[in-house]
Amino acid sequence: MSDNIIIFDTTLRDGEQSPGASMTKDEKVRIAKMLEKMNVDVIEAGFAIASPGDFEAVKAVADTIKDSTVCSLSRALDKDIDRAGEAIKGANSGRIHTFIATSPIHMENKLRMSEDQVVEQAIKAVKRAGKWTNDIEFSCEDAGRSEIDFLCRIIEATIDAGATTINIPDTVGYTVPEQFGAMIETLLNRIPNADKAVFSVHCHNDLGLAVANSLSAIMKGARQIECTINGLGERAGNTSLEEAVMAIRTRQDYFNMDTRIETEHLVPASRLVSSITGFPVQPNKAIVGANAFAHESGIHQDGVLKNRETYEIMRAEDVGWTTNRMVLGKHSGRSALKSRLEELGITIDSEEELNRTFARFKDLADRKHDIYDEDLQALMTDVGEEEHETIRFVSIKSHAETGETPSASVTLSINGQEQAQTCTGGGIVDAAFQAIESMLETGAELQLYSVSNVTKGIDAQAEVSVRLEKGGRIVNGLGADTDIVTASVKAYVNAVNRLMGPEDRAHPQRHDV
Ligand code: KIV
Ligand code: ZN
Repeated sequence: MSDNIIIFDTTLRDGEQSPGASMTKDEKVRIAKMLEKMNVDVIEAGFAIASPGDFEAVKAVADTIKDSTVCSLSRALDKDIDRAGEAIKGANSGRIHTFIATSPIHMENKLRMSEDQVVEQAIKAVKRAGKWTNDIEFSCEDAGRSEIDFLCRIIEATIDAGATTINIPDTVGYTVPEQFGAMIETLLNRIPNADKAVFSVHCHNDLGLAVANSLSAIMKGARQIECTINGLGERAGNTSLEEAVMAIRTRQDYFNMDTRIETEHLVPASRLVSSITGFPVQPNKAIVGANAFAHESGIHQDGVLKNRETYEIMRAEDVGWTTNRMVLGKHSGRSALKSRLEELGITIDSEEELNRTFARFKDLADRKHDIYDEDLQALMTDVGEEEHETIRFVSIKSHAETGETPSASVTLSINGQEQAQTCTGGGIVDAAFQAIESMLETGAELQLYSVSNVTKGIDAQAEVSVRLEKGGRIVNGLGADTDIVTASVKAYVNAVNRLMGPEDRAHPQRHDV
């Protein structure tokens, strides 16, 4: 059995199913390029049938990525499979991932189908996928709560029908590591044609066990882990790519396996996904959290200075921490900016995009002496959105004085026309948001507002994350600036633009759409 674990990244599909994490085509391509650079084996780019926009995004990823396999999800339905097949047609290596639920609770309540009907539909789906590609993944949705005899039956049948990867999802994050590992072992031992397919796992983190369950599964013979950057995904998310990869790499003595991942891209990838989706990374998150390699207490610091292995099991630089290195400044030119961005995994494709980015960079460098990698990442968040935004931030003037009511005047460009509004509020940010609302009348509710510093230092940029909700739809917006109020307004405007974007997309795990 191979000792190489296939890393299947589903940030662009399951990750995108997190409320408010939906991404544009360009954003998906940007993340996919980073994943490719990191050596991810398979990139699940989306659920092609969800909407025309989703189809275009999967297609754009398939047409752009050369070194990773590009995959589209599809339910076990002809129309889904054909749409997925169309979307991945241009890929150097394309995969169709089809699935159907196999647990009694899902079959009875969601599908309203018998076991025989489910097996028949699964076989039909795998055969249909075979018209498009030889690389076919079949998933037993809610396998974690499915009966083992039924799993053996449907998996044997789908391998016979042509499935080359069999994925065992713990869809609701219900299993525990020993049990999940034992399940994989039983399946591999009992299914007569199990050696004809790669066994994969897809774990959700509802009990905080997704990484542990995935690692337990590889110890019992699974050879593909499905995961996401920052553990993004439905509800509590999926197996975190960075945690699973670093556990395998750091504890090779125990696992005796490895992945192809180039780990120095983990932190830049985490930042990129966080800034694009507006989901901040908690400071104590393993590997990519701001505190993951910070040694606060004197005792720890003393130990680390004498011998870093006293308290460090991994080297910060191996996962991409650059210790706030000053990389560019006021006098840096366009090519220095372009090549530093490339080193961060961000490619600038057109002269126009470079011009826009450089103008923003100059503007930032006028206000901030030293520009770090983190500043460049934050800068790119704004640039990526620009062409899609019908509403743009122009300027803000605010006033706050002890004992006075704070006020803010915001100027926006709305479909090319400038408009301004002044409002008062409990604070300047409140006043600025009210000014925006009085111009746009979105009626959205502010669900989350958070500020973090992009780098250390008093002149650091603030990164603001805003979450808006309207009629059940949730969007995140992100903005960065050396001024907190400006960053807040940019984040709000970014969220509003997303709220106004296309929304009608089918959810893969709903059966009735
Ligand atoms: O969690 C799950 O079961 C899924 C499937 C669609 C693979 O995401
Ligand atoms: Zn999932």
